Amino acid sequence: MEYGYFDIGNREYVITRPDTPTPWINYLGENGFSGIISNTAGGLSFDGDPSYRRVTRYKYNNLPVDRPGRYVYIYDADTGDYWNPSWQPSMRKLDSYECRHGLGYTVITGSRSGITASVRYSVPVGARYELWDGKLMNNTDMQKTLRIFCYVEWSWFDAERDILCDWPRMIFRCRRNGNRIEFDPVSEQCPSGLMRSYIATDSNVVGHDCSLSAFIGPYRSETNPIALEKGRCSDSDILSDNAVGVLCSEISLMPGEEKCFRYILGCCDRFEEADSIIADALMPGKADEQRNKLKAKWDGYLAKQVVKTPDGDMDLMLNCWNAYQARLTYSWSRFVSLYERGVDRGFGFRDSMQDVLGILHADSESVAERIRQLLSIQYSAGDAKTVFYPATGQSKGGGRSDDHLWSVFSVCEYVKETGDFDFLGEEISFADGGKAPVYEHLERALSFTMAHLGRYGLPDFRLCDWNDSLTPINQRGGAESVFVFFQLAHGAYELMRHYTAAGMRERIGKVAEIYEYCRSKLPEIWDGKWFIRAFTSEGERYGTDRDEYNKIFLNPQSWAVFSRLPDKEKLNTAFDEVMKNLFTEWGLVTHSPASDGYDLDVKNFFPFATGSRENGGIFYHSNTWAIIAMTMLHRNSDAWKCYSAAIPARRNAYADLCRTEPYVYTQTMIGPTHPDFGKCSNSWLTGTASWMYFAATRYILGVRPDYEGLVLEPCVPEEWKGFEVTRMCRGRKIRIMFSRSDLCIIKTHEKEYEGRVLPWDEIESIPYGSELDIKVFFSDEGELK
Ligand code: GLC
Repeated sequence: MEYGYFDIGNREYVITRPDTPTPWINYLGENGFSGIISNTAGGLSFDGDPSYRRVTRYKYNNLPVDRPGRYVYIYDADTGDYWNPSWQPSMRKLDSYECRHGLGYTVITGSRSGITASVRYSVPVGARYELWDGKLMNNTDMQKTLRIFCYVEWSWFDAERDILCDWPRMIFRCRRNGNRIEFDPVSEQCPSGLMRSYIATDSNVVGHDCSLSAFIGPYRSETNPIALEKGRCSDSDILSDNAVGVLCSEISLMPGEEKCFRYILGCCDRFEEADSIIADALMPGKADEQRNKLKAKWDGYLAKQVVKTPDGDMDLMLNCWNAYQARLTYSWSRFVSLYERGVDRGFGFRDSMQDVLGILHADSESVAERIRQLLSIQYSAGDAKTVFYPATGQSKGGGRSDDHLWSVFSVCEYVKETGDFDFLGEEISFADGGKAPVYEHLERALSFTMAHLGRYGLPDFRLCDWNDSLTPINQRGGAESVFVFFQLAHGAYELMRHYTAAGMRERIGKVAEIYEYCRSKLPEIWDGKWFIRAFTSEGERYGTDRDEYNKIFLNPQSWAVFSRLPDKEKLNTAFDEVMKNLFTEWGLVTHSPASDGYDLDVKNFFPFATGSRENGGIFYHSNTWAIIAMTMLHRNSDAWKCYSAAIPARRNAYADLCRTEPYVYTQTMIGPTHPDFGKCSNSWLTGTASWMYFAATRYILGVRPDYEGLVLEPCVPEEWKGFEVTRMCRGRKIRIMFSRSDLCIIKTHEKEYEGRVLPWDEIESIPYGSELDIKVFFSDEGELK
């Protein structure tokens, strides 16, 4: 069944019924005041940091689901009827309902008994508040006197304490001050500075509540608050217990009349500042101005790369939703979503280092800054801490085998995109003191891994490698990771290329040695038809045809290609097996056969049930690497099959099976060995977002900045005759028109180049800010990329 559709022109996904299989969410804000909002207005708000600057509560894994949120109740004083345009939380039947998730805003509209209410939720660019821009319309032929109640549940600033402890309920003040409710969580204790929260309105306030129990009433819920049964609040101000922000306003409407109302949910350091912020926010014309600014922000971002291909869903993803998701994944790492609770994850070194790839084409300055921040939590020995919290500057963790190696890929891609070779020379501090140029950070990362090799000379598995769930493989110590081995080889390869391009030849020797060392280890890890995944603590091969379970893993095959170490024949053999053993109609599973039962003695190391997540699920993050590897091997039709299978828009009609939002990628879908095959999880914040965008634009469509120039090397389905990509490139706008041919030729208005590389000189010779049209004739033939 379909729960909605794409409004392509308006860049919105329109949900047409509220009872979606899971809450389908959107993000409001980015970096500063922000939040998540579902299609029934569930979700939470925070001030830049969901962990230490939480503003409103959201109760995960709770019943009824998806509560609380940013609610507006409508009460009809004549009939005593009450309802919400968002359906939740009263769940009173609506005559019509629509939720439009757009870029940085969500509009929810509902109607009942001749009244239509619509609320547009957004965080204006640069604002430290959320704007709820409401409209109320009387479609009846009678005059109506309505009461509207806003509702939020306040959280103490420290979200973890708020969830785990009772004492924060005695450290705050909450009261009405004129047309606003002020919640003061006594934030002097907050490690990232002061914060006071408030909700204000421009409508005619006739009552309020700050006490949750006064508003809701005993043994009731948001579904049937006592205040709504009575039609009025109790005007409670409180100093302890659970606090809410409820303002009740009266609005009367003549037949056919429409009136607007607004709420401002925000933060400030001190309440004295709130007067001017609110007054400014409510100024006539301000909301329209903010709406235009928000639109301009996202239009500007999306315009950095626009594609026109024969596949409408691919265009929809790349021109809008995938790019949007990649930006939000970059902004929030794995910190806060419907699956990550904004308390325990923060910005992972590994995750965030990869996330930069999804926005590199659009915002390389921000990428450089993020890379600097991350490199500063690397230790001088070369390994890195695991998590970083930008708002507080705190970091923690360490001990994983792969974290530190991710920086090589991202730094090199950053330089290829920008030509900023000086970046490698920038001095950056280490977490434990001292500083060194970026290239040394990268070299120390490789050296750290080289200093921690196991009995077969492969990287020690340590706490885990990229695959967190494989952690138990090293419970007895001494396990080795083939994934990290190929990551190391790839890192050495990339750094050699970088040094060659940067003219830093004197530094090549050391990394070339690492690369050659890796080459010497290849025979140990080839299983006959594919590369194994690891060596166990007992020194046994893992990911071999000889075992009953976990025979063939996807990641080592993809990363083997990235390393460029094995010969093409072996790589193709491995990918024949990948397609044979791992491909499903929805994408590739992590490995096969999935383990059935956790039993270290038979090498079943995955704690997850068979087919779920990293145990034989379709882990889309891994799919992206396979897609890239397939294009590198010129297995165009396989690459397209996998890309196409994963496109979320293709799940639109299968929402009851797949469950999550059809406009964004998920981290995972349950695989075929599990009874729930097809069920998706962890939408929004996933490496899939950034890598899929990277894979599709740079490897399938093949527009790929490299050291020597812009590589133009499509790997598209055979039936495609041509397509177009318009992209910002080093400050110039380039429109590239691709046509299938027998030859590989690039034509600008003046010159013609044979091959697949348009030299940077050609691009940089045109004035900064100007436009260049290019014609590319491409063929499918080619060497390993
Ligand atoms: C999740 C984690 C990521 C990890 C992956 C595989 O995506 O965010 O850090 O590498 O799972 O376990």
